[in-house]
Amino acid sequence: MSPSARSYATPVETAAAVTRLPHLETNEHTRPIEHDINRIILRSEQIRTRVRELADEIAATYAQVESGLTLVPVLSGSIIFLADLIRELPMKMKIAVVHLSTYPGRTTTAQEPRAVCELAGDVEGRHVLVVDDILDTGRTLKRVQQMVRDRQPASLRTAVLLRKPDKAPPDSEVDFIGFDIEDLFVVGYGLDFGDYYRNFPHIGVLRKELIP
Ligand code: IMP
Ligand code: MG
Repeated sequence: MSPSARSYATPVETAAAVTRLPHLETNEHTRPIEHDINRIILRSEQIRTRVRELADEIAATYAQVESGLTLVPVLSGSIIFLADLIRELPMKMKIAVVHLSTYPGRTTTAQEPRAVCELAGDVEGRHVLVVDDILDTGRTLKRVQQMVRDRQPASLRTAVLLRKPDKAPPDSEVDFIGFDIEDLFVVGYGLDFGDYYRNFPHIGVLRKELIP
């Protein structure tokens, strides 16, 4: 059965309209991040609701599983999604992080994923759920899924918050999907540009002039 994703049908909003921040005279480093966002495509409230639904799906899937569950979050983009998701999951679990870099520095062009930190943790013989922020070209997930398989897990599933269906190859192995989005470079809720904007609570698109 193929997993279902929500598509976002929200009218586009400007970050300023959502946050109602007063305009401040600031420089590149001190201005609020809202000022760098052109429009928001997913509000934090929508994300929270969907993460709860995903947690219910995941909890139901693993309800009958007797051996242990290990979550494998792909750093750094998955950190906020992971933090919210696991607090909605009632079962015992271990966490084994893996750190991959796909967009080094200030670029929006994907490179071959590079392992910054290899998979470390309890994976062999365990039920593994890989957790990532976004399924774009699928190269990162393929690489992580291979790393997990090499360690002989009892089972392997994958959860992503976002998917770009126009880019993701049809054979991508993914079991839980939060939202399908357009092929846009997005930031916030863990997703970055040049390692910035991960702390923006919504998911949005940067102002054009900030992207080289
Ligand atoms: P893939 O290997 O092309 O599927 O890329 C997946 C990784 O690239 C994700 O884990 C993200 O960290 C990053 N990425 C892909 N698309 C975006 C985006 O729109 N904004 C920020 N990061 C992205
Ligand atoms: Mg990532």
